[in-house]
Amino acid sequence: MIVDPNGRDPREFGNELLASPSPQRCPVARTSSGEVLVAGHAEVVEVATSPEQFSSGVSAHLQLPNGLDGEEHARYRALIDAYLAPAVVDRHGEAFRRIAREVVEQGLAGDNGRVDAVFDIGARFAVRAMTEWLGWPDELEDRLIGWVVANSRATRSGDPARTAAVAAEFDEIIGEVVRPRQEEPDAFDDVTAELVHDTSLGRTLEFPEIVSVLRNWTGGDLGSMALSIGVILRGLAQDPALQERLRKGVSRTEFTAIADELLRRDNPFVSNRRVTTCPVTVGGVELPEGQRVRIHWTAANRDPARFPDPDGFDPVGNAAHNLVWGTGPHYCPGKALSMLELQALVEELLALAAVAPSADPAVRSVHPVGGWHSLPVELERR
Ligand code: HEM
Repeated sequence: MIVDPNGRDPREFGNELLASPSPQRCPVARTSSGEVLVAGHAEVVEVATSPEQFSSGVSAHLQLPNGLDGEEHARYRALIDAYLAPAVVDRHGEAFRRIAREVVEQGLAGDNGRVDAVFDIGARFAVRAMTEWLGWPDELEDRLIGWVVANSRATRSGDPARTAAVAAEFDEIIGEVVRPRQEEPDAFDDVTAELVHDTSLGRTLEFPEIVSVLRNWTGGDLGSMALSIGVILRGLAQDPALQERLRKGVSRTEFTAIADELLRRDNPFVSNRRVTTCPVTVGGVELPEGQRVRIHWTAANRDPARFPDPDGFDPVGNAAHNLVWGTGPHYCPGKALSMLELQALVEELLALAAVAPSADPAVRSVHPVGGWHSLPVELERR
């Protein structure tokens, strides 16, 4: 079967591939651009946990650590994990709560609490939380917000030249924060400076390596966090009882299960690429060596063969098979940081306001982006 995901809502696209019983069900499909798209839950897990056959070395650009395999990946991954361990990121919790209150107050103050959950709350909170975490100057906020918007538009356009220009702009911003920390080692005491002077590989990182690590921490994260916040606020707006449950206070474990389940139903982090290292068969489809493969997390997270009620809400029951953060050696190292940010935002928001759906139209994102492109909601001060 040949499919074309371009311009499609990834959730609906996945439903079409997987909802029908066999022989229409299509867990592995060829796309019009020559990729093989893996959508079935079992097949996605198989690909993501078989790095010897499905390499992450898909790009000519340096991608640390996500473009690496095997021992080389493990070395860089250990370096990165040290920055993202729960106990290490937890020290930013109070700052994230302060930022959350500022962003929500700003939303309540303008236009009677009518906000775009993705842009006014999601992108703004994600940018401020990230600059706080990395120790970047506040003056970068508007430039970074502009970048999130430009990046989302470029991705939506499908124009590689536009996407490359946006990526180059981001590298420029990274260069501006890295160089002063290289030139004046004693003048900065923040996570970016720690990375610049990190010697855990037995040497300091080269400039392109630092840029690559920071690009992975920030470029991808800002977009995914903003979109995740959109999906979560949509879930809350539709479910006042869930708002009440969270307002009473839940543990990190309970919050994580709830957020994971909201994101499973509408996973905004849609896909990642692999390339086969040898001839291999997946889901009954024979693939040659060098075949480009796209893992479709959004579809797999709604596969009725694994989740009989894909739109249901079962945080505990569905947790074991949730793929929002990936699986296998490239499992997201940023989950603890993301959850810390999300819990801070949701709890501070609910302490100040109730979230209600808006009558204004919302716009879905399209491949390769998921979730909501724009999502008006109403914040009502409590
Ligand atoms: C809601 C937010 C996020 C979602 C849904 C998400 C999801 C994912 C997924 C699915 C992967 C697996 C990629 C693969 O298998 O190829 C991944 C990898 C990764 N994520 Fe996240 N992520 C999020 C936030 C973050 C944050 C905040 C950071 C860091 C600050 C981060 C850093 C990374 C890195 C470095 C990798 C590559 C890991 C490796 O190759 O070993 N992510 N993420």
